[in-house]
Amino acid sequence: MNKLYFGDNLEILREMEDERVHLICTDPPFNSGRNYNTFLGDSLAQKKAFTDTWTWDTTAQHARADIESRAIANDTYKALNTCLKGYDMVLLNAVSGDSGAMRAYLAFMGPRLAEMHRVLTKKGSIYLHCDPTASHYLKGVMDAIFDVEHFRNEIIWQRTNAHNDGKQYGRVHDTILFYSKSSKTVWNPIYTEHDPEYVKKFYRHHDERGLYRVGDLYAPGVTQEGESGKPWRGINPSKVGRHWSTPRREAWPEDVKPPENYELLSVHKKLDVLDENGLIYWPPKGSVPGFKRYLSTSKGSRVHDVVTDINPLSGNAKERLGYPTQKPLALYERLIRASSNEGDIVLDPFCGCGTTIDAAHTLNRQWLGIDITILALDPMRQRLADRHGLEPSIDYQIEGYPTNMQEVHRLLKDGDKRKYHDFSNWAVTRLGLRPTKDVGDGGLDGIGHVTLWNPQQMKETDARILAEVKTGKPNITQVRAFCHVMEEHKAEVGIFITIAPVSPKMRQVAENTGNFEHNNKTYPRLQFWQLDDEYFKNPDIINTLVRLPDAWRIRPTQKSARHFTDQQLPLLRE
Ligand SMILES: C[S@@+](CC[C@H](N)C(=O)[O-])C[C@H]1O[C@@H](n2cnc3c(N)ncnc32)[C@H](O)[C@@H]1O
Repeated sequence: MNKLYFGDNLEILREMEDERVHLICTDPPFNSGRNYNTFLGDSLAQKKAFTDTWTWDTTAQHARADIESRAIANDTYKALNTCLKGYDMVLLNAVSGDSGAMRAYLAFMGPRLAEMHRVLTKKGSIYLHCDPTASHYLKGVMDAIFDVEHFRNEIIWQRTNAHNDGKQYGRVHDTILFYSKSSKTVWNPIYTEHDPEYVKKFYRHHDERGLYRVGDLYAPGVTQEGESGKPWRGINPSKVGRHWSTPRREAWPEDVKPPENYELLSVHKKLDVLDENGLIYWPPKGSVPGFKRYLSTSKGSRVHDVVTDINPLSGNAKERLGYPTQKPLALYERLIRASSNEGDIVLDPFCGCGTTIDAAHTLNRQWLGIDITILALDPMRQRLADRHGLEPSIDYQIEGYPTNMQEVHRLLKDGDKRKYHDFSNWAVTRLGLRPTKDVGDGGLDGIGHVTLWNPQQMKETDARILAEVKTGKPNITQVRAFCHVMEEHKAEVGIFITIAPVSPKMRQVAENTGNFEHNNKTYPRLQFWQLDDEYFKNPDIINTLVRLPDAWRIRPTQKSARHFTDQQLPLLRE
């Protein structure tokens, strides 16, 4: 069953059985120092997931200590530990640069890559998408974990055209490291259409079957065996140190059917058949005949390790979902096609808005995706529904994301701060609001603005909406504190989200805060939304539970672009 997990991939990978997946295509945070997402709450893991900046803090130190202790009994961790110790020598002696950030990043990536290695089948492969900030260090880590001899390619993907990077060459590429788990691996060569310039240069002849180039009917070396070294139609290949060689059947055009006994014929007879069918090119003057290789029979050019034919997603690309680090589908389709077969299981442990998942489904592979932020689910669910008609719980499973109240309670049960933040982020984004930075301690979890048109005054006004999430039993002091926060932020409307019922006294406080008026309609300034199973059955009900001007109509399955403000979008990487 195809599945999406929401949580830290290290924990989830560690629960997966050995040799479960055939292919991993993944695109982790890069340690590029690009703070491309500033809007999330202060949950450390989530913030790291997006901000892509690392520090040598206690989390990093614990991660290294854990690698060290696992290294005692596990060869993969042993190799990883040795590699990281080697890097310590380099990084700790570095005169400039933030060596702590790189050490912290490698302490984060190392164990995750070790677990990815474990869950791959013996014939499995992995593509690790990185950028030049850390790709050289990651290659060493991959060599340690997968073994140097299982390195296949360093793929360069030109992700942008122009880049002015000061006194250095413009940085326009990402690096994708390709490793296999053993020397026996799935490999399906990929071809692309020939470049028109190539066609012009090489396919210079044409006849009623179309364009063709002239290929050899000779192979190198003299042979005395059978007819292949002997003259045919007065032409002697041995004279020039060669022998006759007829092309394979796949090189023939579709319309030419060979006689049934073709493979049993002598080489001269085969040449006769080719000639009878017009497949031999006779040059106007002397020289040697050749085989007509038609453009229509060519599979195209075999792709190589420099990818320049797949463009990054432009701002207005149709496939863009508003997720900051989304990669092009065509790139991931190429990787999956080359290194897996139909029915295989493809895993992406840093799946973002699901490019790998979408590509795998398109190519009839099974898939597993993991991401730490539940904000990734909205765009992912949208794309699986729009492009493949897939519905969660019916066509695929979701774990770690609340789809009913039981799961909400389970998510919050052990008081884990990160899960609380996840839930809080999830709840405010159900209202189309943006999670705030001071999640959990400022009485403010979500914020949103809406521009309202005022026909009487013929002008637009801005309205501000705030939300507060309470996962325990709410009390009247919290409601009053939220009213203060609303006043401080000059908010028109505040929504107090709970999973437990609110008391009549709290409702009285809400009534006392009065109404917000717009276009001759009134909306309560303070509103309550108690999350329940009715909501999960019909998320559209939110528009009746919460009363807001039409301009703020909530679309429960909206694309996540809504979660990113216009000011933040330019900060986001491609
Ligand atoms: C570069 S993005 C992947 C984008 C993806 N290739 C796409 O096209 O949408 C990296 C993703 O890794 C996720 N992530 C970061 N740390 C994680 C962790 N510890 N566990 C799971 N996911 C994590 C982030 O939330 C982010 O969505």
